[in-house]
Amino acid sequence: MIDKSNWSISKHTNQYIEDTFLPFDEALDFALNNSKKQNLPPISINAVEGKLLYMLTKLKDAKSILELGTLGAYSTIWLAKALPKDGKVVTIEHIEEYAACAQENIDHAGLTDTITIKTGDALKVLPQLNETFDLFFIDAHKEEYIEYVEHAIRLSHPGSVIICDNVLRNGGVMQEHFAKDYFEHLAKFNKYLAGNPRLESTILPITLPLKDRDYVDGMSISVVK
Ligand code: DHB
Ligand code: MG
Repeated sequence: MIDKSNWSISKHTNQYIEDTFLPFDEALDFALNNSKKQNLPPISINAVEGKLLYMLTKLKDAKSILELGTLGAYSTIWLAKALPKDGKVVTIEHIEEYAACAQENIDHAGLTDTITIKTGDALKVLPQLNETFDLFFIDAHKEEYIEYVEHAIRLSHPGSVIICDNVLRNGGVMQEHFAKDYFEHLAKFNKYLAGNPRLESTILPITLPLKDRDYVDGMSISVVK
């Protein structure tokens, strides 16, 4: 229920979409609670973004997904739920404790056979991959996004979709003096996407409640030509 005191357009918009379109899901709830219990950083996508990834996976009719940055597998589980029975997700996580928590959450969700975690640095694991994927979700080190997308293109086919998290950072990417290092990396990344002749791209802005203030981030969405 929406509490009209302490009104926040981000908080209440997210709450509204959640209440209206997102029924309670035990596996996703377990993944969030277990990740919190094991002190994983609270930087996973939220439920509304999860449903967006789910919808994009269905729209694409994707059967194979590569994710970079598993964290507790909250986004991974959302993606896997949108796949047909024979669909597969490969997800890369460089921190072993996060990968162990993610595996518990995946097993709890009954998705053990659908999702494979590869533990290691994405830039070391990616060169070992050769199969193609229908959809990519990139949410790992912001300073490495350009290299990730270069690998994603190598592992793509025409029509593959590449989605990257955190590409607006509340206007951080638009400022002349970047407050944090990765704002500058992300600003460069967005220009790289726009200028990449292999891709057609845009950014979907997403409003998030962040510590009870309104915050606009976004996901880039690219299609491989
Ligand atoms: C951070 C990373 C993310 O992927 C995100 O969605 C939010 C914050 C971070 O490293 O701070
Ligand atoms: Mg992110």
